[in-house]
Amino acid sequence: MNTLIVAMDDDRLIGRGTELPWRLPEDLKAFRTRTLGRTVITGRATWQSLPTYPKRPYLDGRVNMVITRAANRYNKDLADAGAQVDPEGPWFVPTIELAISTARRRFPEFVEEFVIMGGRQIYELALRRDLVDRMIVTHVHGHHIGDVYFPEIPPAWTATDRQPHGAYDIVTYEKA
Ligand SMILES: NC(=O)c1ccc[n+]([C@@H]2O[C@H](COP(=O)([O-])OP(=O)(O)OC[C@H]3O[C@@H](n4cnc5c(N)ncnc54)[C@H](OP(=O)(O)O)[C@@H]3O)[C@@H](O)[C@H]2O)c1
Repeated sequence: MNTLIVAMDDDRLIGRGTELPWRLPEDLKAFRTRTLGRTVITGRATWQSLPTYPKRPYLDGRVNMVITRAANRYNKDLADAGAQVDPEGPWFVPTIELAISTARRRFPEFVEEFVIMGGRQIYELALRRDLVDRMIVTHVHGHHIGDVYFPEIPPAWTATDRQPHGAYDIVTYEKA
């Protein structure tokens, strides 16, 4: 199962520079709980904007696959630095498909679900390549300041569950 997880506001805004446009600690906690023990797939830019980067360059308790056109260089830099790579990674790969097949081969205990967690380029890529089975969207109420937007949710996707949480709703979308 490949699940895309994103938080967007009423304008489909998802980012402000390299950061999120809002502070929603409860939603981040829910994201952590939801993704522990899974494989998470991020774009290189989102990976470098993790709050713990560079001290801890991965989300703990999850296998971290990072999509980059420079996978060879990042992997070589790690090897040259003699860095001990934790099982969580980060693992650099040039495609989402390779992220999935690598995790299946090397970390079978983490592949019950693949979580596509952004940013915009990686969301677009996953949707374009029809790699998404389900979307879990935190719809943050209102309008915010920022400059990175989620693409239009294609009409084939319908909301199958909605959980209100005050300032936001968590909505599951599935393909009709
Ligand atoms: N609201 C949310 O839920 C949420 C979640 C995540 C991120 N965000 C926001 O999203 C923004 C970042 O998104 P972004 O679109 O700028 O960056 P991104 O998708 O995180 O990463 C972009 C990078 O991914 C790699 N990439 C993209 N397409 C590729 C392809 N076809 N093949 C191989 N590699 C590819 C490239 O890395 P290289 O340059 O290394 O080749 C590219 O620079 C930030 O504002 C962040 O806060 C929001």
